[in-house]
Amino acid sequence: MRINPFQPFGRVSRLLPVALLASGLSITEPVQAQGTSKPSALALEIDKRLPQLMPKVIGWRRDIHEHPELSGEETRTAKLVADHLRALGIEVRTGVGGHGVVGVLKGGKPGPVVALRSDLDALPVEELVDLPFKSKVKGTYRGQAVGVMHACGHDMHIAMLMGAAEILAGLKAQLPGTVKLIFQPAEEGLPNGGTGAKLMLADGVLENPKVDVIFGMHVGNAPLGTINYRPGPAMAASNSFSIVVHGKQAHGAMPWAGVDPIVVGSQIVAGLQTIISRQTDISSVPAILTVGAFQGGVRNNIIPDSVVMLGTIRTFDLGIRQDVFARVARTAESIAAGAGGKAIVKIDSGNLVTRNDSALTQHMVPTLQRAAGPAGAQVAALWTASEDFSWYQDKIPGLFFNLGITPRDKDWRTAPSNHSPLFFADEAALPTGVRVMASVAVDYLLNPLKSK
Ligand code: NI
Repeated sequence: MRINPFQPFGRVSRLLPVALLASGLSITEPVQAQGTSKPSALALEIDKRLPQLMPKVIGWRRDIHEHPELSGEETRTAKLVADHLRALGIEVRTGVGGHGVVGVLKGGKPGPVVALRSDLDALPVEELVDLPFKSKVKGTYRGQAVGVMHACGHDMHIAMLMGAAEILAGLKAQLPGTVKLIFQPAEEGLPNGGTGAKLMLADGVLENPKVDVIFGMHVGNAPLGTINYRPGPAMAASNSFSIVVHGKQAHGAMPWAGVDPIVVGSQIVAGLQTIISRQTDISSVPAILTVGAFQGGVRNNIIPDSVVMLGTIRTFDLGIRQDVFARVARTAESIAAGAGGKAIVKIDSGNLVTRNDSALTQHMVPTLQRAAGPAGAQVAALWTASEDFSWYQDKIPGLFFNLGITPRDKDWRTAPSNHSPLFFADEAALPTGVRVMASVAVDYLLNPLKSK
């Protein structure tokens, strides 16, 4: 998951329509639990096996937390996962889309194929949380010396899916179908572009056997142990852009002899701000445009030849996304041309909207509710963070939900967010995470969604 805290409605979920309307967001559609919430024998078996497994899950999580690896460098983590899956008797493929690991657990009875996905990578962040298993790892990111930390909680995801794999492997004979366990590298993106999901897709991760539906989970700030989900668009599409403004270098005392790219770039930043605020219909879904870097010049009295700007665009609708792209290019190019300079605009392919299949979400709500227990499962607000899980959902129906990890004595609204050096995930949420991952697999296999 990239940037921004989650914003679930938490305890006020019963007031959701009011809260949503008050927040200016549209309601995609009401979601109600359907059918019976009575757990199956397999679901009860998951609950029974969970307590004795938890010390191992906590041990894995701490080990992984202490040994984080940057995107594209997940060798140790991948080996840990692959060794565990093999020890469980699960068929394993390694080196999928880089350091990706795929386990195929074929149940004793015929049925559909469900995929469960965890990411593997950590971030170039120096950990400031004081833990016995605090990361002291250093690395290099784009040539810069950096600390490395599981600041997005992917260590929790890995440990929870390893735990779910162990439970499911123990129920193998009774499983009516196949569970594909996907441990994906580089969710945060490779330093030079590309993401693990796209690389794994290119390596056929959803084929052999062909996956019917996919589930994923992310930890984030929300009341401890709550599960937060949203049908339809849930997380933003993200696209980073670069704008290089070419002017003409000159003496700072004689600006008329050149074209000042700093002034032109400043006008472009101001122009870009009006794309969302003045030109985009945000009455149904929001959009965001941020310029996060502006670099140029070396000395007080030299007008530089060029400046570089970097930014991000967040959208929840692919039509709006395309429109914003066109406006960014037009705005930058025309402002630069007006000043006698030139702007070169590049926008990357980024991530798509994380769009939860509405029918699948509705189908799984009772499972989410049961797995969350008293903490509860509720509809969340839109999240302006993005996920490369969206690339799987571009191919097959998928559901991505959030697990609340804020300690009970902290306010989840103000606790340090994912990607902060102070991000802290409470291990007390781990049992719910293991339970929900194993449960969505089992419940879907027992009761698959009828084809539309
Ligand atoms: Ni993440």
